[in-house]
Amino acid sequence: MARFFIIAAILAWATSVLGLSEPGYYANLTWEKPRTLSNWANLTVETPSGTFIGFLNDTYPNVRQFLRVPYAQYVSSTSTMWSEYEPTNLLINLGEIWTPAYANKTSKLPVALFCYWRRWCDWWNRCPISDAATVDFAVSRTHCYHNQLPGQYLWQYVIWAQVSCLKILMKLPDPKSRALNETSLSLLDVRAATEWVYENIELFGGDPENIMLWGQSQGAALTHLYTIVFPDEPLASHFSVISRPTSVTLDVTDAEDVYEDFDIVAKALGCNYGDDAEAELNCMRGISWVQIEEFINRYSGLPSISFSDYIPDERYTFSNESKRYLEGKIAKGPGIRSDTERESASTNLTSTAEAEVEWDCVAALDTTRRYALGLDTYRYYWGGKFTNISPVSWLGAFHWSDLLMIFGTYSKQVGPISQLEIDTSITMQDFILAFLKDPASVSGLGWDLFDPHDANGGQILEFGKGNPVHNITGDYLDAPCWNSSLKGRING
Ligand SMILES: *[C@@H]1O[C@H](CO)[C@@H](O)[C@H](O)[C@H]1NC(C)=O
Ligand SMILES: *[C@@H]1O[C@H](CO)[C@@H](O)[C@H](O)[C@H]1NC(C)=O
Ligand SMILES: *[C@@H]1O[C@H](CO)[C@@H](O)[C@H](O)[C@H]1NC(C)=O
Ligand SMILES: *[C@@H]1O[C@H](CO)[C@@H](O)[C@H](O)[C@H]1NC(C)=O
Ligand SMILES: *[C@@H]1O[C@H](CO)[C@@H](O)[C@H](O)[C@H]1NC(C)=O
Ligand SMILES: *[C@@H]1O[C@H](CO)[C@@H](O)[C@H](O)[C@H]1NC(C)=O
Ligand SMILES: *[C@@H]1O[C@H](CO)[C@@H](O)[C@H](O)[C@H]1NC(C)=O
Ligand SMILES: *[C@@H]1O[C@H](CO)[C@@H](O)[C@H](O)[C@H]1NC(C)=O
Ligand SMILES: *[C@@H]1O[C@H](CO)[C@@H](O)[C@H](O)[C@H]1NC(C)=O
Repeated sequence: MARFFIIAAILAWATSVLGLSEPGYYANLTWEKPRTLSNWANLTVETPSGTFIGFLNDTYPNVRQFLRVPYAQYVSSTSTMWSEYEPTNLLINLGEIWTPAYANKTSKLPVALFCYWRRWCDWWNRCPISDAATVDFAVSRTHCYHNQLPGQYLWQYVIWAQVSCLKILMKLPDPKSRALNETSLSLLDVRAATEWVYENIELFGGDPENIMLWGQSQGAALTHLYTIVFPDEPLASHFSVISRPTSVTLDVTDAEDVYEDFDIVAKALGCNYGDDAEAELNCMRGISWVQIEEFINRYSGLPSISFSDYIPDERYTFSNESKRYLEGKIAKGPGIRSDTERESASTNLTSTAEAEVEWDCVAALDTTRRYALGLDTYRYYWGGKFTNISPVSWLGAFHWSDLLMIFGTYSKQVGPISQLEIDTSITMQDFILAFLKDPASVSGLGWDLFDPHDANGGQILEFGKGNPVHNITGDYLDAPCWNSSLKGRING
């Protein structure tokens, strides 16, 4: 195994050093300086948990890639679903790390720790649900390094680490079994990843005191929950929450049975043990994850089921978030809060606008609570509509499409690309990069702190609408949160 990696790394290194732009047999490389194998050292990172050998390749010669980096499972005081269900050799999580090729342990580059959701692949029907998904996303991530467009590229200046924060399979974000006391298992994975990155990233060229934990959608929900659960030693220094859904914490005071979802799946798969939750769970542990995953994917009955919301356990998920805010039990550190113009795009523009109000008010309320605690928040609204991303008009600036701009992967979407689209992506990367390096520096780019008490309701940046960036106000965007006769701003 080790030998395979070394050979692969040598091959990758060799092809990258050749850097051929013409077919090999036409090239005249006489001009090249003598090479040595001393660069080898650049690709090797020794950490307490092992030696990692990264690679460079000719597609992304400026990037050191470390794929499949294992980080330990969060060690829980009690047994969890994972520790009981998973064979020991699977008790690891895998992440990926990309660094600029020049990074070494003295570089102290800002770290972007991105919490992503493998189900994305599922949603887009683009990649099978397997580890291949990670590799596919690695490709689209690293695509940002590809210097084919003018301007600065965010990822050439930062360490990019990512972990799959939400697990598929039996690793449902929240298995919702009555027999489990710990339900927020994904959150514990985020913690494990953050601890690993905090302890090891310096060796890869990162600055452990400058880690931005961030995520989009479910990843945003987890980033948000993380700030509530780990107020004292958050290890990350800033927290960016991109398009957080309205709530992922279940309201247990609702009459409905929060454990029913698990029962539905269990019964269907032949694990009906009546009231014996322990037996039900044990039976489910014996069912193949493939079968469980397939069943959940195909299920469209009533009541609907979900395993991506959380039952509050008052330890890792709190039923009363405003109480945590009032008590100031929130991780310190500046953050970004953002939404897209059509978070819940559908052909029914009325319901799209209604949903937009809910999503936007989540960001507005959170920012206001943070402000009361003296925590800095910068907000943006994504309003770009570009035909290669959003080919039909009702889609608009839909959920997730802002990430294509931040990652630079918009250029992989098929269709014509306008100058505004290119400029917007560069602008968004510039703002995120500035925030990563030093949040206080973004005011220099024209990104004001969001102050809900401003006369205009606070400043928010809008990206991609008419020009790469301009200001909009809280009075304009958030007014429907307090005035129910106003509609969500889904048309700018
Ligand atoms: C290759 O390039 C070198 C200079 O870099 C030149 O002197 C030499 O003539 C070239 N050889 C061929 C075959 O073109
Ligand atoms: C290896 O590191 C040296 C500095 O230590 C740097 O000059 C060189 O560009 C690096 N090599 C690669 C292939 O990145
Ligand atoms: C790390 O990189 C910097 C700048 O590229 C270089 O000056 C320094 O010598 C390198 N340090 C090591 C230990 O390779
Ligand atoms: C370089 O690495 C990326 C991502 O790991 C991969 O998609 C791409 O195919 C590689 N390029 C080559 C030429 O191997
Ligand atoms: C859950 O908590 C109860 C009460 O504290 C305890 O008796 C039980 O053993 C716990 N179950 C598990 C699976 O940890
Ligand atoms: C949440 O906590 C706050 C502050 O203690 C309290 O005022 C509020 O009533 C609580 N909300 C619920 C739904 O219990
Ligand atoms: C569109 O959504 C609105 C609000 O949710 C709803 O009242 C209306 O019936 C929907 N229209 C159609 C055609 O489904
Ligand atoms: C937004 O408005 C502020 C004034 O409050 C200004 O300083 C800043 O440059 C504006 N930002 C942009 C991107 O135009
Ligand atoms: C709510 O918005 C409506 C429509 O713009 C406006 O007429 C009304 O004055 C607003 N109400 C408040 C309390 O601002």
